[in-house]
Amino acid sequence: MTGTLDIVRQVAELRARVKYWRDQGLSVAMVPTMGALHDGHLTLVRTALEQADRVVVSVFVNPTQFGPNEDLSRYPRQEAKDAESLDGVGCHLLFAPKVEEMYPEGFATTISVKGVSAPLEGVCRPGHFDGVATVVSKLLLQCLPDIALFGEKDWQQLAVIRRMARDLDLPVRIQGVPTVREADGLALSSRNAYLTPQDRAIAPALHRALQAVAEGVKAGKSPAELCHRAAADVIAAGFASVDYIEVRDADDMGPVETLARPARVLAAARLGTTRLIDNIGIEP
Ligand code: PAJ
Repeated sequence: MTGTLDIVRQVAELRARVKYWRDQGLSVAMVPTMGALHDGHLTLVRTALEQADRVVVSVFVNPTQFGPNEDLSRYPRQEAKDAESLDGVGCHLLFAPKVEEMYPEGFATTISVKGVSAPLEGVCRPGHFDGVATVVSKLLLQCLPDIALFGEKDWQQLAVIRRMARDLDLPVRIQGVPTVREADGLALSSRNAYLTPQDRAIAPALHRALQAVAEGVKAGKSPAELCHRAAADVIAAGFASVDYIEVRDADDMGPVETLARPARVLAAARLGTTRLIDNIGIEP
């Protein structure tokens, strides 16, 4: 430990800490996470440190964004290790509230972002983005940072949060950070820890399939046909099933037939018992 990281668990303590910084004229960045931190998360923190004087990371495994059959109970929790990693990169404050602090008895409000939440993850994980939008709006209002950073790895989540911040006039700049990958292309994810060694060897096929779609779309081929082929390739590589591989508008997640504006090819697929998601950009 280098000894600069503090941990707070109450909203009032977070606010007091941020006010203390504000009174000194310091700028503040926030990086919301669910913990089990890897180099993708730490890259968000490093980017935040380049852009603000003080960086707050939240670690909160948010129950409202997990469906009834999802991995809430087995989601990795390792606060001491996370605190050490955050201290190592120079993060100033870890906000790690308990569930009762975020959702006290009688909690009754949901933030729901229409349109951009509806396709893809919205179909596969009903209610997921309501949980994300609700917790992220709470975190941003609790901390009121100048900027908040989110990974492009969860592109649709980033699009939902951007829309929400605009619609609610949240006085926070939302910044996306490019996906951090392993050398073989696999996007870093806390869920990669669930993969068996065999599945880990198969996993990069998802990123390769996305690249093939992006190249085909740029060459003027039909997105629908390319995505169909990519899904077959992912299954042939050893994935158990494909939830979706689709080309969508990068901002509003609407369907794309021809490439007129920045687009994104997004995928979710199951490998063993693990669900992996990934996406890459397609510029016109
Ligand atoms: P979590 O999955 O912990 O991710 C926290 C942040 O790290 C998100 O913005 C995510 O996009 C980013 N991230 C994850 N893997 C990444 C990678 N390989 N490269 C770059 N960034 C990466 O996303 C959530 O938590 C939650 O939904 C949250 C926003 C915290 C709300 O509960």
